[in-house]
Amino acid sequence: MALVTTTEMFKKAYHGGYAVGAFNVNNMEIVQAITEACREEKAPVILQVSKGARAYANHTYLVKLVEAAVIECPEIPIALHLDHGDSFETCKACIDGGFTSVMIDASSKPFAENIEITRKVVEYAHDHGVVVEAELGALAGIEDEVNVSADNAHYTRPEEVEEFVSKTGCDSLAIAIGTSHGAYKFKPGTKPQLRFDILEEVSRRLPEFPIVLHGSSSVPKEYVDMVNAYGGAMPGAVGVPEEQLRHAAQLSVCKINIDSDLRLAMTGTIRKFFAEHPEKFDPREYLKPARANIKELVRHKLVDVLGCSGKA
Ligand code: G3H
Ligand code: 13P
Ligand code: ZN
Repeated sequence: MALVTTTEMFKKAYHGGYAVGAFNVNNMEIVQAITEACREEKAPVILQVSKGARAYANHTYLVKLVEAAVIECPEIPIALHLDHGDSFETCKACIDGGFTSVMIDASSKPFAENIEITRKVVEYAHDHGVVVEAELGALAGIEDEVNVSADNAHYTRPEEVEEFVSKTGCDSLAIAIGTSHGAYKFKPGTKPQLRFDILEEVSRRLPEFPIVLHGSSSVPKEYVDMVNAYGGAMPGAVGVPEEQLRHAAQLSVCKINIDSDLRLAMTGTIRKFFAEHPEKFDPREYLKPARANIKELVRHKLVDVLGCSGKA
């Protein structure tokens, strides 16, 4: 199967009561870990590339790694998506350069400007057979170089979504209901709670329309503890409870973005490896267990959180 757009994936996910996982990729080991888990679980998948990933690994290397995964995993649908596209030019470069889906994130701009830039990307993307994710509302946390403070974060206003979607023609919409980017999403000791009332109101106003959740890592205690036990310092790292993500996936949420959890699994595993084998210096020796642990973490997400195992 060649690279696909998310259109069919989202239609099936919406009606099937599950979500497709969107995992960020930055190097070969991460691409392999995610796609091997998805192939074994027969799950559709979205591999997404941020502006930072393109700066780190180079556009062509990332596209070719994903194309290699498509060859290795012919049984599952794979979409290649630009995460948090910051401008028309970045989106155009990815549309022209082999991506099947792009996000234009103009959520920090005023409503009218967000509509204008999103509509421009949608026109170009649709002319080239590519789908577009847009965003309304502002998540807290760090994404690329933008750090949105908790004070500047705000929930999506449901009364804006119909006008936004009809004027832009976007194919999916990321909304802010309490998730945030990074490993420090909620204050330790407080009870994390997503705003399902906002999600339900958005869905009522946009029937059959795919909703996207960013900032959806759960920050597994196992890996935070591993990082901290082997020389790291991540006190107070807290993520989104998995059962709340599972619930969102049963509603209109068709795409759930997970990046920080994979980073934690990789970093924790490598820290532990070095602590236990201080004499080793072959990167293959520490990247191998890191890749294996990312793969098992992705499998857990597919089966227990997203509900998309067996849906390819
Ligand atoms: O939302 C941001 C993603 O986690 C990508 O992060 O910009 O550090 O590549 P990055
Ligand atoms: P996390 O930081 O929660 O993994 O969010 C990732 C994300 O939203 C990528 O766009
Ligand atoms: Zn994001």
